[in-house]
Amino acid sequence: RLHPTPGNIESSSLASLRAQAIDCQMCELCKPATRTVSGEGNPKARIIFIGEQPGDQEDLHGRPFVGPAGQLFDSALREAGGNRAEMWITNAVKHFKFIPKRNRRIHQKPDAPEIKSCTPWLATERRVLSPEVTVILGVTAASAVLGRQVTVSRERSRPIPLEDGSIGLVTVHPSYLLRLPDEESKTREYTKFVNDLRMAISTLA
Ligand code: URA
Repeated sequence: RLHPTPGNIESSSLASLRAQAIDCQMCELCKPATRTVSGEGNPKARIIFIGEQPGDQEDLHGRPFVGPAGQLFDSALREAGGNRAEMWITNAVKHFKFIPKRNRRIHQKPDAPEIKSCTPWLATERRVLSPEVTVILGVTAASAVLGRQVTVSRERSRPIPLEDGSIGLVTVHPSYLLRLPDEESKTREYTKFVNDLRMAISTLA
């Protein structure tokens, strides 16, 4: 069986994409990672959410946003009036990048070539889904979707026209909220995040 290349990805369905991505070796991240973590959700979703890459828990379970950041995301989405089952959730990069440290695996940000290697999956996934709104969670997803460097604080919370005529909305990554040092800023930033998700939902006609 041939490994996928940017030129031979067959894009008839989300199920087909998932099956092909299992064997992806388009960058080195596949070697230490446990498995490819493909997007999941409602194939008819009108809103999709794009994160950075699977974390430790996602790599073990093979599903996006099921660890601590995912739980925070789920609660924010509920507060915004959304329902995860109606959405599609995926990542810019489909393998977990980490360095081992004692018995832990420490998350590493994917670099520009790794993000670029993975864009055939994301681009094809987005073409098949054809959502009305793409919620971009943090800088990695922003560079994958918009193809340029983005300052989240400058571009968040307002609709950005995408190449296919649909709408992009940049907001923070839920991990950012987990890393904030004090309760006051956590509460403030969580509220802003919920407001961004609410805006994404209310953008639908
Ligand atoms: N962070 C992400 O960006 N994606 C996940 O799936 C989990 C954590």
